[in-house]
Amino acid sequence: MNRKLFKSIREYKKQSIMTPVLVILEVFMEVLIPLLMANIIDIGIQDGNLGYIIEMGLILVVMAMLALVFGGLAGKTGAMAAAGYAKNLRHDIFYKIQNFSFGNIDHFSTSSLVTRLTTDISNIQMAYMMTIRLLVRAPIMIVLSLVMTMTINRQIALLLLITVPILGGLLIFIAKKAHPHFIQVFDEYDILNNTVQENVNAARVVKAYVRADHENEKFRKISEVIYRLFTKAEKIVAWNSPVMQFTMYIVVLCMVFIGGRSIIFETMETGELTSVIVYAIQILSSLMMVSFVFVLIMIAEASTDRILEVLNEVPEMEDGAEAIDAVPNGDIDFENVDFSYSGKDGNLSLKNVNLHIKSGQMIGIIGGTGSAKSTLVQLIPRLYDVTKGSVKVGGIDVRNYKLETLRDQVSMVLQKNVLFTGSIYDNIRWGDENATNEEVQKVCRLAQADGFIQEFPAKYNTMIVEGGNNVSGGQKQRLCIARALLKKPKVLILDDSTSAVDTRTDALIRQAFRQEIPDTTKIIIAQRISSVEDADMIIVMENGEINGIGTSEELLKTNAIYREIYESQVKGGTENE
Ligand SMILES: Nc1ncnc2c1ncn2[C@@H]1O[C@H](COP(=O)(O)OP(=O)(O)O)[C@@H](O)[C@H]1O
Ligand SMILES: [Mg+2]
Repeated sequence: MNRKLFKSIREYKKQSIMTPVLVILEVFMEVLIPLLMANIIDIGIQDGNLGYIIEMGLILVVMAMLALVFGGLAGKTGAMAAAGYAKNLRHDIFYKIQNFSFGNIDHFSTSSLVTRLTTDISNIQMAYMMTIRLLVRAPIMIVLSLVMTMTINRQIALLLLITVPILGGLLIFIAKKAHPHFIQVFDEYDILNNTVQENVNAARVVKAYVRADHENEKFRKISEVIYRLFTKAEKIVAWNSPVMQFTMYIVVLCMVFIGGRSIIFETMETGELTSVIVYAIQILSSLMMVSFVFVLIMIAEASTDRILEVLNEVPEMEDGAEAIDAVPNGDIDFENVDFSYSGKDGNLSLKNVNLHIKSGQMIGIIGGTGSAKSTLVQLIPRLYDVTKGSVKVGGIDVRNYKLETLRDQVSMVLQKNVLFTGSIYDNIRWGDENATNEEVQKVCRLAQADGFIQEFPAKYNTMIVEGGNNVSGGQKQRLCIARALLKKPKVLILDDSTSAVDTRTDALIRQAFRQEIPDTTKIIIAQRISSVEDADMIIVMENGEINGIGTSEELLKTNAIYREIYESQVKGGTENE
């Protein structure tokens, strides 16, 4: 296991230390009990000394009870330590993920993050509990039992001394053989979770495309692979038990032979033989436990690596000590910006972009899908960092702002947006949790959402279900715009956020923007010419580059791409509603 992870034990250190201490006490009791038994048989019974039998019997009962109490307490503190450790670890990972930038998130799939937060942590929790309980217990039990055996019969002690490393080696060999199969199982779990997650998320799409059979088949195949891998691994581990049994019988046989001779030659008593057999069984079962824990630890080792990947991921963006916490105005400047999603040597998604936008302007961006419209605007709230050049807001490089300040002042409605489970009030207040009901209603009027909200029986208290599936696409978009407006941003970016809104409402939203938030810079990405036509400036994107900038009138004269889009939409009269 790993030191870095152990930091998460924190307040559960006490239980983590108490557990092995209690286990050791328990082991002491358990080792003494057979000795007392031997004495009762050899001294009490053989001499017919009832007083001695009762006295020893009472001590034996007390010790057995103590063993029970220590064992029980160890179980409790062990469970607390392991569960607490897992809880802290889960928190640490969760907080770490919250600090991830978009770039960091791109490195992990959602389902693999979920597996790490659930299955992997459970593995570590299990292994940790077994380590502080069984892994402490087994060696002490083995050593003490050997010592006790040694005081009774040296030959038998020697026999056990030889058996322990051989059997131990054999059991660990079996565990090592099974290990790679277990590791494979966990990799397959990732794929399984991914399939389930995609499928559940996209349940409606799957149904609409009648792809259920295909998805079932995909799921069946992965389940089958996991089944086969697990069987393979378990088949190997299953050897543990017969190997163990076989050794046990051989050892007991040898012991009875050696012990029988010793009794005949009167170097050992019957009761002593009984206790030696008990010690032998304790030693062998401890070995069995060690091999069991060994498998668990190896599984946890793989989980540890996967968790460390998350914890060691370097957050791409962290506030510097002198980060600026106020955005002076809504000016936006791109200076010689190159951008690649995969770092310095990757393919450039944006090439040499230069752009100057004045505070309060309304800017339209138009261009084919994949022309890097979204990529361009994502650099403004610093969802990603530029690869070369600089992006400035209010005349200051975005990298010099506190991230929170920048993202509060540059409000962006993402192309793939979501609403959360909760009332409309709750959802809009994501923009500003302290906003009053009146403020929420005001932004909803601005975003032309008030009208349809008023028609819901519960109005603003209407519950949105997960993902916002109980409102239409256009309604969802307007709620998302309202949410962004609530921040009273200096820059507002709408990434294709009115695509499902009818043209008339779309125009009303833009008109409201002009009247109500004249000082806010507004950037509108759209597929429809009518959404950008009246902008102060329109940017035409093509293949990661700015193909043309100007007003609609200017672009009609100078820009072929704009003219083509314009003509296909306006002339043909096919403007979609
Ligand atoms: N998270 C991402 N990781 C890697 N490549 C991406 C990512 N998002 C977009 N791209 C790529 O960047 C290019 C521009 O995409 P995008 O800006 O979304 O285009 P648009 O918004 O104009 O449709 C596309 O080639 C796309 O494949
Ligand atoms: Mg896009």
